[in-house]
Amino acid sequence: MTQQLRRRKARIAATWSGILAGVAAAAAMTTVMAGSAVAATTLGASAAERGRYFGTAVAANKLSDSAYTTILNREFNSVTPENEMKIDATEPNQNQFNYANADRIVQHARSQGMQVRGHTLAWHSQQPGWMQNMSGTALRNAMLNHVTQVATHFRGQVVAWDVVNEAFADGSTGARRDSNLQRTGDDWIEAAFRAARAADPNAKLCYNDYNTDDWTHAKTQAVYRMVQDFKQRGVPIDCVGLQSHMNNQSPYPSNYRTTLSSFAALGVDVQITELDIEGANATWYRNVVNDCLAVARCNGITVWGIRDSDSWRASQTPLLFDNNGNKKPAYDAVLQALNNGVTPTTPPTTTPPTTPPTTPPTTPPTTPPPGTGGCTATVSLNSWTGGFVATVRVTAGASGTNGWRVTMTLPSGATITNAWNTTRSANSGTVNFTNVSYNGRIAAGQSTEFGFQGTGVGTGMTPTCTAS
Ligand code: XIL
Repeated sequence: MTQQLRRRKARIAATWSGILAGVAAAAAMTTVMAGSAVAATTLGASAAERGRYFGTAVAANKLSDSAYTTILNREFNSVTPENEMKIDATEPNQNQFNYANADRIVQHARSQGMQVRGHTLAWHSQQPGWMQNMSGTALRNAMLNHVTQVATHFRGQVVAWDVVNEAFADGSTGARRDSNLQRTGDDWIEAAFRAARAADPNAKLCYNDYNTDDWTHAKTQAVYRMVQDFKQRGVPIDCVGLQSHMNNQSPYPSNYRTTLSSFAALGVDVQITELDIEGANATWYRNVVNDCLAVARCNGITVWGIRDSDSWRASQTPLLFDNNGNKKPAYDAVLQALNNGVTPTTPPTTTPPTTPPTTPPTTPPTTPPPGTGGCTATVSLNSWTGGFVATVRVTAGASGTNGWRVTMTLPSGATITNAWNTTRSANSGTVNFTNVSYNGRIAAGQSTEFGFQGTGVGTGMTPTCTAS
């Protein structure tokens, strides 16, 4: 069997569904070839032997550079479009989608048997002008529509999505980052994840951020608590991405393995999504690889570019290949670490993390006293050909509510595929939407919102609200 064929098979094997088969196949091939273990000679093949992928960010306009594609095709078995799937690239004008450059990258990846990470569906940065100027419900709906449309377009072609990117603030507060999306309400992140799950049920859904490498940092802890909360409440989340842009201000932390294993212990995969290291410190690169190999659910590493000249931080020379495409010492360190890596047994052997304090979920009142004064509901729609997102605002009357029910009749042919912040009695026809535990109580004159996504046409729904 030729090296090339072996590499291609290793690449094809490196999908989430085929991890175990891949490890077995790679091991079997190696044995047949040499009668003893043979070290893999590329990053992707070596990672595949560990049941993982090794990827890189790719720019569509470099796919015509043969020096670039030679390294890409030889070394990597996963790609992340560096800019081409971002909001400004895929929806430059509202409801006008442009997938040309992203599709080019996906096609290239497919032709080489590489998997694709999607990056990113909802982010405060690289928003098109029309979105930057939006706020409130209009922005929430536009964001959900974007998530739905883009995830639907790439359904079946993207193994994992960075659904939400960089939603937490730096520094010691552990707070959310202020942004137009954040100002639509704290639940914008879970709403984005729900919309992504509905659009592509088979893609792994990740939360991705930077400066979340050091386990003791407030930002790391805040992301941890959000993921823990999502898992407890059943918000669909499958993975956490650590960008891991490391430099002298954000050095490799000695507790990095604790960070990886702590997230993994929540029941999510962990991926290193944008690795680059100032000066390409070979020791730090080696440590990152060893830490990932030590955590069973750390299932892949992506570096943020191929040659230093491809890097968004080119002056830091942070990548594995120099400007001429030559392997740097960091490359050798990474390949050696991958080849030496021992496939971990489950459970991981890392020290269990100290669980950060969690806020217990608020228990709903056991026997709520009946309210009076009622409630009102209004519905706003964001429609596209074949589907819609409805946002329903429930406003309490003079007595406030302890609970509420909104009844609406969907137009014939319309079917609900997904709903958030409510429990529904049916998916079509006349539907009762009732409050969930955390949004039943509304003070007099105040409001809460729930929403749902549907196929068909959603126009003409008239909500009626009943308070309890
Ligand atoms: C960077 C790209 O590499 C640049 O080409 C672009 O000009 C700006 O964005 N965090 C992320 C990535 O999630 O999308 C960013 O990529 C780097 C920081």
